[in-house]
Amino acid sequence: MFTEVPQAKSVMTLLTVQKLTKTFGGLTAVKDISFELEKNDILSVIGPNGAGKTTLFNMLTGIYQPTEGQIVLQKDGKPCTLQGLKSHQINQKGLARTFQNIRLFNKMTVLENVMVGRHVRTNNGLWAILIPNQKARIEEEETIEQAMEKLEFVGLADKVFIQADSLSYGDQRRLEIARALATDPTILLLDEPAAGMNPQEKKQLIGLIRRIQETGVTIILIEHDMGLVMNISDHIVVMNFGQKICEGTPEVVRENPEVIKAYLGA
Ligand SMILES: Nc1ncnc2c1ncn2[C@@H]1O[C@H](COP(=O)(O)OP(=O)(O)OP(=O)(O)O)[C@@H](O)[C@H]1O
Ligand SMILES: [Mg+2]
Repeated sequence: MFTEVPQAKSVMTLLTVQKLTKTFGGLTAVKDISFELEKNDILSVIGPNGAGKTTLFNMLTGIYQPTEGQIVLQKDGKPCTLQGLKSHQINQKGLARTFQNIRLFNKMTVLENVMVGRHVRTNNGLWAILIPNQKARIEEEETIEQAMEKLEFVGLADKVFIQADSLSYGDQRRLEIARALATDPTILLLDEPAAGMNPQEKKQLIGLIRRIQETGVTIILIEHDMGLVMNISDHIVVMNFGQKICEGTPEVVRENPEVIKAYLGA
């Protein structure tokens, strides 16, 4: 009789974070954090308030320069060092993010907000904007098309002409995801995407994150909702007082006494 042998998942390290440290004056917000991100995984970073999770994201995306340590992305089969680059350069290398405190252009429409994200991928310079030519017009049409595609993907296709600040909180978070996706990232970083969402919206968010993963995007997620984290993560890194105290599968992390004491127990 034919028995199917389970296929081992092929593992490829996409991002290597080595001994990353960030100090602000006398305060060490992140200390010696190392981990590897496997291609197409969902990696969650969890830990109590002030543990250094957002600071870690800010270093990965070039908003803060690390005080020490290395961030290396595998891009087209070659290692590419990210520390020292500016955030728009890191975005062009394939890392896109959303923010814990939503950052949208409030007075712009939903569609315009995503088009702004897409401009990272187009070649239009300032002159092309001031004196639109045929090429610029075609690119603009493509930008609109791509933006519409992303909005449809996150479920906002019927709200494209609404001003961003008129959206519900959950929709604003989804709009931020669409804007990040418009840059065609290889790695998407989500900082507390479920914050402020009701249970129905959280359920939809889980579906959306899984669909993003299915398109081949690798995801790093900061989240306090443990139901969501344990449901969706392939791998979890736990931080406390700036340091990594544990990492592993949801099963491993859930049972770890130090994690229970520092975070889950509460
Ligand atoms: N720009 C900054 N200047 C000074 N201190 C900062 C700065 N950014 C963060 N910190 C400090 O670094 C520490 C870690 O903050 P961070 O925002 O990374 O925590 P977090 O894990 O994201 O917390 P939360 O779950 O509440 O979002 C905190 O003590 C914070 O006050
Ligand atoms: Mg944070």
